[in-house]
Amino acid sequence: DKGAHKHFMAKEIHEQPEVVGRTLAHYLDMATGRVRLPFETPFDWKDLDRLTISACGTAYIAGLIGKYWFERFARLPVEIDVASEFRYREAPLPRKGLALFISQSGETADTLASLRYAKENGQKILSVVNVPTSSIARESDVVAPTLAGPEIGVASTKAFTCQLTVLACLAVAAGLERGTLSEAEGLRLVTELIAAPGLIAEALKHEHAIEHVARDISKVTDVLYLGRGTSYPMALEGALKLKEISYIHAEAYAAGELKHGPIALIDETMPVIVIAPRDAIYEKTVSNMQEVAARGGRIVLISDEHAAAESGLAGLETVVMPNMGPDFAPIVYAVPVQLLAYYAAVALGKDVDQPRNLAKSVTVE
Ligand code: M6R
Repeated sequence: DKGAHKHFMAKEIHEQPEVVGRTLAHYLDMATGRVRLPFETPFDWKDLDRLTISACGTAYIAGLIGKYWFERFARLPVEIDVASEFRYREAPLPRKGLALFISQSGETADTLASLRYAKENGQKILSVVNVPTSSIARESDVVAPTLAGPEIGVASTKAFTCQLTVLACLAVAAGLERGTLSEAEGLRLVTELIAAPGLIAEALKHEHAIEHVARDISKVTDVLYLGRGTSYPMALEGALKLKEISYIHAEAYAAGELKHGPIALIDETMPVIVIAPRDAIYEKTVSNMQEVAARGGRIVLISDEHAAAESGLAGLETVVMPNMGPDFAPIVYAVPVQLLAYYAAVALGKDVDQPRNLAKSVTVE
């Protein structure tokens, strides 16, 4: 049932404050502000030299963001690859290592095959899944559930933000266990996580402004997404979402890679969507925006209300996001990224919930 919404995708985007809140409540003790994982770990975070992550599509992008968090909070090196590569790469894996698989459906063929490879090679298996009865869940040593509820739209939205939520909680738990986060830092990060559902709701209030930008985007043939840090995978997610439901060609680059090639594409016709919360590297992204502006490129900046002024660039089109700490920005910035794709597809009259050539669950390779 779509309720008041035209599409499941819209409904699922709007469910995010609730499902992220529910997922957080499963991993955090809301009263004390501490992480409380809902399972015993059959491994010790302290003993790990490396974490191996593998997944497909949007779940892989969640893993890319997780990499930044595990490395920053837990000083745990992460190797991550798409499952279709990982399963055949014959990657050497650490002795007594931990492998993490992420999947909404829990049935993705390549992810399941990667899991089996990791198991045969002596890894403990942790999986972040939305369907608890799925093959991936059943074959794992420990399951970290996302509590997104059934996701019907082919484009993953609420499952993605719930995957991010779980990965954030795991990374903070790992950091506390490994002693790379102090108690105080842990409490601060948990406080930021607890704020996420409210911030997602705030971001949703900008829906009409985003729809307006999306209508313009729907008129072009190519879009470039840029970001740094965790906003780089968010750029990948923006491009993936736009491609899969609106069929507009989109590419994503780490903003710092711009001058190594893609800058040649910049002209007045191709919008450049810059995802840039005001974090420690915002300034660096501003210089990339200057490079785009100097070549007549059209920039849409997704950031908070102060970002445009701070950039010093005139005439920036902005999608305003709530003021928030930068650590977990992806959980909130997912909203404009999803809505841009959604409204571009709606403007083009595309079948948003059932895009051509795609299946919700990819059970064959
Ligand atoms: O069920 P899974 O999470 O394993 O699915 C992985 C991908 O097929 C999936 O995320 C796909 O990329 C989505 N259509 C993206 O919106």
